[in-house]
Amino acid sequence: MMKKRILSGMRPTGPLHLGHLVGALDNWVRLQEEYQCFFMAADWHALMSEYEDPRRISSYVYENVADWLASGVDPEKSVIFVQSQVAEHVELLLAFAVLTPLGLLERCPTYKEQMRELADRHVATYAFLGYPVLQAADIALYKAHAVPVGEDQLPHLELTRQIVRKFNNLYGEIFPEPKPLLTQMSRFLGLDGRKMSKSYGNFIALCDEPSDIRKKVQGMFTDPQRVRKTDPGHPEQCNVRRYYDVFSPADVADLAKACKEAQVGCTECKKMLGEKLVALLGPHQERRRQYLQQKKTLCDILESGRQRAQETARKTMDEVRSSIGLVHR
Ligand code: TRP
Ligand code: SF4
Repeated sequence: MMKKRILSGMRPTGPLHLGHLVGALDNWVRLQEEYQCFFMAADWHALMSEYEDPRRISSYVYENVADWLASGVDPEKSVIFVQSQVAEHVELLLAFAVLTPLGLLERCPTYKEQMRELADRHVATYAFLGYPVLQAADIALYKAHAVPVGEDQLPHLELTRQIVRKFNNLYGEIFPEPKPLLTQMSRFLGLDGRKMSKSYGNFIALCDEPSDIRKKVQGMFTDPQRVRKTDPGHPEQCNVRRYYDVFSPADVADLAKACKEAQVGCTECKKMLGEKLVALLGPHQERRRQYLQQKKTLCDILESGRQRAQETARKTMDEVRSSIGLVHR
């Protein structure tokens, strides 16, 4: 039996952090066994917000892909590629753009939210409004059956389904309607208790030096009611404890007890967490470093990914042209 297909992507706009590792990447790694996976660095999508200063996009492509590989995304099993290297994405974007009602895009909740969040980036552009149309093209180009995404991306998946349905109704059933595979949203927040976000800078990046990891963990917000070390703590309300849940589950029970009984202070508690994270990220960082040092290997992986992606993409575009009835070559 042919494996079902998955496509997912990340925008190379910055370093990946612990949330990506525990939310998305470990999920990608698992899905590789069951599905034929396409994993894409969405650099055109990155350009939509970074076009005024696009210099770092390509280095983030390499860095992010090195993190994927270091996490266990396997180029033998999965197709790892860069969106802008497969021109068919942009072709299918236009085929979808002709049938996407403006209202659908203007009403998309992520659009309004992003316009607010990226107020300093001048994203009141033609392309930015069409962000979900390119995402629909990314997915449909590989006839993906499913898309692993976080909850924040659900409106885009719904738009993809609507666009694909309309295409199928007008020109013939060629695309499956992709289903979201909801990624367990991160069970932990940013270091300051707010949502992890690039603009808040409140996260531990996968490439952070051990000294930075220790410093960042030491600066984490804890139980606000615990002023002195002799005050009993409320681990159930503490963000540090949530990190323990994820990164050191075997220690949570003992730790929570000691916290409630004021046997352990926050400084010590965070010190231990910092060491855990340093130890956990060490091997990841070593693998990541190796990929970034052997640029040739990384480029070969992306080149082979491009070829495999493009093979599928070309077939789909041929079908698209003939279903619409564009002139044959
Ligand atoms: N919009 C996604 C994000 O910001 C990235 C993305 C681009 C994507 N194309 C995709 C995700 C296709 C899933 C499928 O995270
Ligand atoms: Fe949070 Fe640990 Fe301090 Fe308890 S001891 S309040 S779990 S940081």
